[in-house]
Amino acid sequence: MIPDSCLHIRGLSDDRIRSFLSLAVSIKRDPEKYSQTLKGKTVLQFFVENSTRTRMSFEAATRKLGGTSVVFAAATSSLQKGESLLDTIQTLCQYGIDGIVMRHSSGGSPEFVAGAVSVPVINAGDGQHEHPTQALLDAFTLLEHWKLEGAPKNSLNGKTVAIVGDILHSRVARSNVHLLARLGARVILCAPQTLLPSDLSLFPAVEIEHRLDSAIPQADAIMALRIQFERQDDSLIPSKREYRHFWGLTPERMAIMKNDAVVLHPGPMNRGLEIDPEVADSSRSLILKQVENGVWVRAAILAMLVGGVKP
Ligand code: NCD
Repeated sequence: MIPDSCLHIRGLSDDRIRSFLSLAVSIKRDPEKYSQTLKGKTVLQFFVENSTRTRMSFEAATRKLGGTSVVFAAATSSLQKGESLLDTIQTLCQYGIDGIVMRHSSGGSPEFVAGAVSVPVINAGDGQHEHPTQALLDAFTLLEHWKLEGAPKNSLNGKTVAIVGDILHSRVARSNVHLLARLGARVILCAPQTLLPSDLSLFPAVEIEHRLDSAIPQADAIMALRIQFERQDDSLIPSKREYRHFWGLTPERMAIMKNDAVVLHPGPMNRGLEIDPEVADSSRSLILKQVENGVWVRAAILAMLVGGVKP
């Protein structure tokens, strides 16, 4: 039997999404109650791409549930000698692994691995494909802020979320458009043409707005995305100054937001480019809440998939 995994948002049922989010609420309220959930279990943290928040929060979540992490050091591993991904994973599985958290630069690789191992696989970001746990923690943060916890279907009905910036390279955007649409939100994608995917046919119903100044006043939440310089050359944004002028979340743009609109960013931020410090550090910013909630949401996912907790 193929174990239950978390590979992409479209692979999660509405029920599963609701269970992850409501269990995250319970764990956040009473972490002590779940402190032995992963006792005796080992989670392989398999990160073959750089990460601060995602990796540390999965490790923290494993620790809070009483489990042990085995952290794979890709840069000093035999992957560098040309060992295949599957040989590497199958080797590590012999050390007694109960679940795999996996980040990889190749889209689809967590699904490939999940088909070959007998433990759950959690996608912690695969190339430009998906980052389902980030979308879940973003939704959790918005639901918590708007006091809509528990996330019944259509709980974001009537809310508009603008996703702004480098959508082309963003797995966070790809997971968020699916999850936000599933929760009933109206989603506006706002980016220069060069940073939008040319084919939006795999996206659910989204609106495209090329002028940030038109998108901002409509939004209840604005999610800024990092310009992913490591995945592009200079041609997509010829000038950083011009980019900030047209697409940056500046104090002037904060002034045209709805009174109670909030700002998110998955991090890491290019301060002074897609977001100014005055916005990132303002009272509208939920950015550090996203970081904190990442631990609870990832703990809920680990508790259900690796710890067998029933919602
Ligand atoms: C994002 C990622 O790695 O996809 N960051 C994260 O997980 N917190 C976004 C990014 O790198 O810009």
